[in-house]
Amino acid sequence: MTTDAAARRKERRRAVEAAVADIRAIERDCGVTPDGLARMKERLLDLAAQADLFPAEDFPPPDGDVDFPANIYRIAEDDDHRFALYVQSARGALDTPAHNHTTWAVIAGIRGDELNRFYERTADGGVAETGRRVVRQGTAVAFLPDELHSIHVEAGDRVVNFHMYGLALDRLHEREYFRDDDRSWRNFPAQEGIIEARSG
Ligand SMILES: [Fe+2]
Repeated sequence: MTTDAAARRKERRRAVEAAVADIRAIERDCGVTPDGLARMKERLLDLAAQADLFPAEDFPPPDGDVDFPANIYRIAEDDDHRFALYVQSARGALDTPAHNHTTWAVIAGIRGDELNRFYERTADGGVAETGRRVVRQGTAVAFLPDELHSIHVEAGDRVVNFHMYGLALDRLHEREYFRDDDRSWRNFPAQEGIIEARSG
């Protein structure tokens, strides 16, 4: 590792710890509310603005033919698995179904474009799109535990962004997603294959 890379990692750790400490305090003071989420979003945007601390070389997407064309790097998580912060590094095409999180979630862009589509449940048990927003450098989206979204990355696009959750992704066993083909709600299994990156 070059001296520059070591210095960057040290600075990254410091910046991540400061952001997570602030987000813990926001949740404590504001609760899991629209106002609390708005403040968390702003704080994560501040961290994302330091894009040079999160270069593509430190967070590569997966190689080869994979089912899910994104790597998820764990860069913070409390001992009780709360306040989990990930760098997600995707190379399109990536499309998820509409899903909830069962905990709060914030996504903030570092580089590249990730389309977020928002949904509400319909009376007949389905979903209806209510809006969309491209997450890129300078933009973020946030969700209460029962709110729904899907994410989309175009084929060939590289996207690096933050995904942060009130509880670690590999502990979320009760998420639901909506299957368009048979219009059913299914269990969205806890995330596997998260790459440990807290030490770096
Ligand atoms: Fe999500």
